[in-house]
Amino acid sequence: MKLWGGRFTKEENQLVHNFNESLSFDQKFYAQDIRGSIAHVKMLGKQNIITKDEMNQIIDGLNGIKTDIDTGKLRFSKESEDIHSFVEANLIERIGDAGKKLHTGRSRNDQVALDMKLYTRDEVVEINTLLKTLLSSLLKVMEKNTETYMPGFTHLQKAQPITLAHHFGAYFEMFKRDRDRLDDIYERMNYCPLGSGALAGTTYPLDREYTASLLDFKGVTLNSMDSVSDRDYVIELLSCLSTIMMHFSRFCEEICIWNSNEYRFVNIDDSYSTGSSIMPQKKNPDIAELIRGKTGRVYGALTSILTTMKGIPLAYNKDMQEDKELTFDAIDTVKGCIVLFTGMIDTMTFNKDIMEASTKHGFTNATDAADYLVNHGVPFRDAHGIVGELVLFCEEKGIALDDMTLEEYNAISPVFENDIYEAISLETCINKRMTIGAPSPEAMNNTIKIYREYLNK
Ligand code: ARG
Repeated sequence: MKLWGGRFTKEENQLVHNFNESLSFDQKFYAQDIRGSIAHVKMLGKQNIITKDEMNQIIDGLNGIKTDIDTGKLRFSKESEDIHSFVEANLIERIGDAGKKLHTGRSRNDQVALDMKLYTRDEVVEINTLLKTLLSSLLKVMEKNTETYMPGFTHLQKAQPITLAHHFGAYFEMFKRDRDRLDDIYERMNYCPLGSGALAGTTYPLDREYTASLLDFKGVTLNSMDSVSDRDYVIELLSCLSTIMMHFSRFCEEICIWNSNEYRFVNIDDSYSTGSSIMPQKKNPDIAELIRGKTGRVYGALTSILTTMKGIPLAYNKDMQEDKELTFDAIDTVKGCIVLFTGMIDTMTFNKDIMEASTKHGFTNATDAADYLVNHGVPFRDAHGIVGELVLFCEEKGIALDDMTLEEYNAISPVFENDIYEAISLETCINKRMTIGAPSPEAMNNTIKIYREYLNK
């Protein structure tokens, strides 16, 4: 059934119908559509725009439709243009004339604006919860590894020693910020557009605030033109999802490197790896690679909606129907990635010995050797030069700074004494980095405590 047949003299061309329809994808928010309709009808009843009896008939009818869709008894027919037409037509079929009053004081423009908001608002909460679970997993690894040494890198070159807890802590910060962003988006989007009509409000005495409160909104939107044409919250959400994926992509890239034959810092569990059809020895980090790869399609959704919105005059235009498929896909992609990534982390093991050996054999303590000289009165720039010479010496001999004899040290600078070995030991290098946010177990345990409290909130 068409909602708008009256003005037309010809049947719709089938290709036009296929091109125009959105039921194939907006059926995803049938529950939100029905929830919105029930709130709208309760308000119409309260305001005596329809009778209480009509109100109750419609509510029962809508609840019946919801149950039948939930249980699979009612299937989405191809003839309906969108979820809104589908539900309304079905309601009229079920309850007759009362059903024809459902759409009083409403347009599909404010209806779809509401549905999309309700759907994405639910998803914002769900993604936030999934991220919290991921953070718990990261924190567990951190708590166990405040003394697991590994090299910290810049330019993919070994730089200074850190710990596994410290490295994971960097990602904890990123995903924590992502959660903050989701909270912000939730706050900003949490205003109800229903009651804005097609664009210019309605002539019925609607109580918009009542509808908004039934739908758990903080308040109502204040401009009916903006209400039906605002998709900023979709853009903000996709931007946030893109940032989440960027974080995953970086983490996955590191995991691929750590899992490589050359590094062997980590073992991805067999249940999260895949094999090669030809090379029997292979165990590939496909999940990490796929998550890294899926980042592209989430960025694509953001670019797509930004481009769609840029040329649209006020108020509603059909272009906006294009907000759905990519947003749904991005949401499902991100949720899948969070779950898979969390599982991969939960089952991953760390080759602590290899990580520690790698830290020892990369001159990650060179800065500390320079600091030793500075503490003995050598200006930093000179100290930098002296340690440079030490490194050159070691590289030629294929040894670490820790392996040099005191004579060898003194041949380059007389300032070195026997306590140099302790000063540049891995333990010292890590333990002395005690500033807030640094990797020493002491500093790290303080940070971990803050994170624990944050997650227990
Ligand atoms: N399927 C449409 C959308 O997603 C619903 C709104 C239709 N409104 C209209 N005036 N044709 O945007």
